[in-house]
Amino acid sequence: ERLSQDLAALQGVERGSFKLAILTTVKYTVPKLLGGFCAAHPGIEVAMVVGNRENLLQRLANNQDDLYIMGQPPDNLDLVCEDFADNPLVLVAPPSHPLAGQKRLSPQRLTNEPFIWREPGSGTRLTAERFFAEKGIAVKTRLEVGSNEAIKQTVAGGLGLAVLSATTVVSELALGELVQLDVQGFPLIRRWHVVYARGKRLSAATLAFKQWLFDHR
Ligand code: PGA
Repeated sequence: ERLSQDLAALQGVERGSFKLAILTTVKYTVPKLLGGFCAAHPGIEVAMVVGNRENLLQRLANNQDDLYIMGQPPDNLDLVCEDFADNPLVLVAPPSHPLAGQKRLSPQRLTNEPFIWREPGSGTRLTAERFFAEKGIAVKTRLEVGSNEAIKQTVAGGLGLAVLSATTVVSELALGELVQLDVQGFPLIRRWHVVYARGKRLSAATLAFKQWLFDHR
């Protein structure tokens, strides 16, 4: 792989390749940026995998990809992490929910509300659980669903509330299929990071993509 990267470097950035791994929640933003990058550099080959936080940490530990886009990077690996963009997490409800439209709700009002959670290992879930634990609020788990898409439909169907990245619900909020509850402390702000193993030599194509991300965020 190193040899082929060296050859690609001799041929210039336009003939390179790289492997990218992104969080499921990032698929609402980064693939569009990747589309623009590939159109501008048609000779570059890219492989992209999509997984949840746990999948990505596993891949990172096994050095399977060149670049990772994730939320909070782990502390136990020697990594380079570049802070890349905001990831606000919002509380969503069906439009008919009794708390919809109320202003500056105290988080205590959510006690015993049924929640639809992402799967264990999800960064979104970890952040939301931490928020409720710090406030001493016990919310009820109605359902656990391993996909942002399915959670949106379940919330719209009236099964409960959910905490999701704002990037995943832009159209549903605009169309009025979901509403954002105005709860104190929300949105919870998480950040996206571009992450790679320290000591990993990034190809010219990888560096060009990383630069593209920062220029177009
Ligand atoms: P998730 O990650 O898609 O695993 O919830 C989002 C995040 O880490 O902020």
